[in-house]
Amino acid sequence: MRSVLNRTRVILLTMTTALAAHAAVTKAPFGTTPDGTAVDVYTLKSDAVEAKIMTYGARVVSIKTADRDGKMGEVTLGYSALDGYLADATTYFGAVVGRYGNRIALGTFKIDGHEYRVPINNSGQSLHGGTKGFDKIVWQAHAIAGGVEMTLVSKDGDMGYPGTLTAHVRYSLHHNALRIDYSMSTDKTTVVNLTNHTYFNLAGGGTVLGHEVTLPADHYTPVSKVLIPTGELPSVEGTPFDFRKGTTIGARIHDNNEQLEIAGGYDHNWVLRGHNGEVKTAARVYEPNSGRVLTVTTTEPGVQFYSGNFLDGTKFGKAGEGHEKNGGLCLETQHYPDSPNHPSFPTTLLKPGETRHSMTTFTFSTHAK
Ligand code: GLA
Repeated sequence: MRSVLNRTRVILLTMTTALAAHAAVTKAPFGTTPDGTAVDVYTLKSDAVEAKIMTYGARVVSIKTADRDGKMGEVTLGYSALDGYLADATTYFGAVVGRYGNRIALGTFKIDGHEYRVPINNSGQSLHGGTKGFDKIVWQAHAIAGGVEMTLVSKDGDMGYPGTLTAHVRYSLHHNALRIDYSMSTDKTTVVNLTNHTYFNLAGGGTVLGHEVTLPADHYTPVSKVLIPTGELPSVEGTPFDFRKGTTIGARIHDNNEQLEIAGGYDHNWVLRGHNGEVKTAARVYEPNSGRVLTVTTTEPGVQFYSGNFLDGTKFGKAGEGHEKNGGLCLETQHYPDSPNHPSFPTTLLKPGETRHSMTTFTFSTHAK
């Protein structure tokens, strides 16, 4: 009898989980780009989270979650309307960045002895796919169970990259977890590194310096003066890059440290424990006043933790607030920056006939005082 009851309970639980996986999905217009392309926004709503994703740049435009008192509030940075995003070429709020997220040194790399040149748009280097990366394109979209699938076909030669690349990015909401599944295929050998560039502020305002960050990583990739990895993978031990125990961002960000000075704060790639392709924790962020907790898991080998150093108060957000320096943080799960020029890093090469899958989750919870 007991085992029958237990089995019934398991079946019921499975059903509840299956139902919870199907967040409600609605679609609405979100404006038009200057060339007349219509942009839509999809709202994903579960019992715990409301997320809005638009087709311009496959961007997260809003995530609302509860604080420890159950009060829902905005936890991402962005703009109230499409115009704000169209006018901002350098912040990448909420975007899927690609074809190559983060930097490629001098905008050049070789595949099979052939040299490719991609646009230089950041201190002599190529950043986030070049001048018109995936963040500035309207993706095709359709609703899926509990979410939305976005598709982009980037032609052979787009921004200098070889091969026609087809990218599918699926956002789905499962109770308190927003999951992003990427899949990529090509018709010619190319390099690809897709990530999501959402800026989080779990307090819903002010700076993130009081947010407590945990990064389960023993090594990181230090950078040159133009933010290109030197190739070394030193230990984080004894440095302001040791986040193995939860530490507030502000505790060491102003330390006398060459790497922090170069980047004006944190803007580095941490080497995650566990293999490339294996699901692992990438980060945990706790904001003590609201009690909000963000946990990030990924199959990617690295995470770029960026403390919003280039925000300078000149851009105004959803509620008219100035996006001040350190007003948000990004946790960009990724392959390491400039991998095409570092054969020792996990490879970003994608060959015809292969499909690369990658997964990242952002899970929201709260922690008692
Ligand atoms: C990434 C880069 C930063 C910066 C931001 C966007 O996080 O690593 O250097 O370019 O994107 O401003």
